[in-house]
Amino acid sequence: MKALILSGGKGTRLRPITHTEAKQLIPVANKPILFYGIEAIKEAGITEVGIVVGDTHQEIKKAVGKGEKWGINITYIHQEAPLGLAHAVKISEDFLKKEPFVMYLGDNIIKQGIKSLIKEFRENTSDSRILLAHVNNPRQFGVAELEGDKVSKLVEKPQNPKSDLALVGVYMFRRHIFEAVNNIKPSWRNELEITDAIQYLIDKDYQVNYHIINGWWKDTGKKEDLLEANRIMLENLKKRIKGKVDKDSKIYGRVDIDERVEVINSVIRGPAIIAKGSRIINSYVGPFTSIYYNTLLEEAEVEHSIIMEECKIIKIKRIEDSLIGRNVIIEKSNFKPKAYRFMLGDSSQVGTI
Ligand code: G1P
Repeated sequence: MKALILSGGKGTRLRPITHTEAKQLIPVANKPILFYGIEAIKEAGITEVGIVVGDTHQEIKKAVGKGEKWGINITYIHQEAPLGLAHAVKISEDFLKKEPFVMYLGDNIIKQGIKSLIKEFRENTSDSRILLAHVNNPRQFGVAELEGDKVSKLVEKPQNPKSDLALVGVYMFRRHIFEAVNNIKPSWRNELEITDAIQYLIDKDYQVNYHIINGWWKDTGKKEDLLEANRIMLENLKKRIKGKVDKDSKIYGRVDIDERVEVINSVIRGPAIIAKGSRIINSYVGPFTSIYYNTLLEEAEVEHSIIMEECKIIKIKRIEDSLIGRNVIIEKSNFKPKAYRFMLGDSSQVGTI
């Protein structure tokens, strides 16, 4: 069995971060989202993995490499434009060679992993197995209608959803999916939808079964989803202090302080994680905060936020519920007159007091 990870897409709902960075590489609990998927696939015993990449291919290749880190083989497949999930399957036919495969959307995180789901699929003969989850906002997903133990209908982002069962971004297929992706037409958003390809299988009486997952799952397309994913992943954190914490600082609860981190005269309340090279000086880091590499916090307070690498946050009280990209500087200025002074990229969002 092989795996196909989809890591193209433009990440429009996460601009401005995604103007310069692949959404799949945004860190959740200081680990790129994409790595959670790779780990889940590896844990399920799959070692031949194709990654479909688009405009952000260089960055993805740099972060993931050939897969040695996980003991797997990675093949990159280039999608010239985000023409849909079924299009990604179509262009991966040479790599997949009609073998059964799992398709994993690179911005999805499934807390329980996929090991038992892959095992079940391997043990039966269905043409496709889809994962479903009850959601509050079905209009934002592909939605399934069931009849007994069968999937009767799938609709992509319906106006009037007939159920609250969303398609989770993990799908298992056998070779008939190639017939499907080669026969469907682009949708209103001009994409070849995997939802339509699975509907094709249903219409042709191929066997499509489903599994409803009860554990936590997230499609990390928006800031709120990322902060929630960060919260959930930090729940698993264990206390680990590798860096230097001076005697004037206080560390409460499950805090992970990596090597080469310096904490000076500060308070850190877990769960919180701080990556290599970051410095926390005269500051407060509150629960559910992740700080990535080489960031400086000085006389600042941050809580329930993701702060990426190489940032400087100086004399700021206080930041909450925020997603801060790479190389961002937020600093109190002493210029007169007193005013906010911004240099913000396109699609930035600022909430003031
Ligand atoms: C895609 C699928 C949708 C599915 C979702 C899960 O949506 O088209 O059916 O429910 O992933 O993450 P998209 O992220 O392209 O909006």
